[in-house]
Amino acid sequence: MKNKMVAVKRHTLLYRVLHWVIAAEIVLLLISGIGVSDYICATFISRGGARGFHIVLGLAWIGTITFFLYYFMMVGEYKWFGISRIGSAIDFFVHELKSFIEGKKVKSPISYSAEEKKYVEKIVLTEVLAWWGWFALWIIMVLTGLALLFPESLNFINRFCFALLPLSGRAVVATRFIHLVVSMVFIVYIIIHAYASWTFGMVGSIFSGTNEEPATND
Ligand code: HEM
Ligand code: HEM
Repeated sequence: MKNKMVAVKRHTLLYRVLHWVIAAEIVLLLISGIGVSDYICATFISRGGARGFHIVLGLAWIGTITFFLYYFMMVGEYKWFGISRIGSAIDFFVHELKSFIEGKKVKSPISYSAEEKKYVEKIVLTEVLAWWGWFALWIIMVLTGLALLFPESLNFINRFCFALLPLSGRAVVATRFIHLVVSMVFIVYIIIHAYASWTFGMVGSIFSGTNEEPATND
């Protein structure tokens, strides 16, 4: 039997604002970062201006993501994405891959209890992997960005990068190269993230806050 659909508040206003502020900051960091790049030639912005803007925005972005992570924990959103769910998320991802190869449609596990007025399952489990992926990318960009800004104080990060890329010749060059490569990974990640959100019909809710969800218990 098909579940009844109910309109549910999925994301608070603050969560949505933070999501889009972080997204905008990352796009601007990519543009200004490319403007100071040693490897990518982008002549549409002046190098000096781009560098100052990139550093100020980078520090503001660290502030925004720190607050986002704090908020994510405080409102209980983290419980859907916790480390203990990574195992089931991998299983679900394998199931998605199998279904894709066999040409079958994956049923979304999301369900809402209309009686208790809360989610029984809030996310498609692959989102757990996506979330930890964001987290890892953010940490790498914060650490390498700060090490480029304060090379003496954060020398241990530069030395670690150099250990990973000894052929780069100098520690800061290695850090800068990793910072650049991971920033390119961001572009691919954003495209996959936007596509996955669209496939599971979630894009509307990250703008409006509400979504139609399948209800149980009635
Ligand atoms: C730099 C760009 C972006 C970043 C850093 C970002 C990051 C995130 C993070 C960390 C979450 C919460 C956890 C998760 O579901 O993975 C999220 C949720 C979401 N994002 Fe993004 N996002 C970006 C761009 C976009 C774009 C371009 C779209 C769609 C057009 C989008 C749509 C969504 C949706 C729909 C959700 C909520 C998923 C749900 O309801 O469970 N995001 N995003
Ligand atoms: C998602 C976040 C970020 C992105 C996408 C990004 C992107 C980039 C890119 C593409 C470059 C040029 C690398 C090259 O090819 O030489 C760069 C350089 C740099 N970034 Fe970032 N970055 C981010 C975050 C940060 C943060 C948080 C900081 C520190 C506050 C930072 C500080 C720097 C510095 C100091 C440089 C070198 C500028 C120079 O010495 O001329 N970045 N960034």
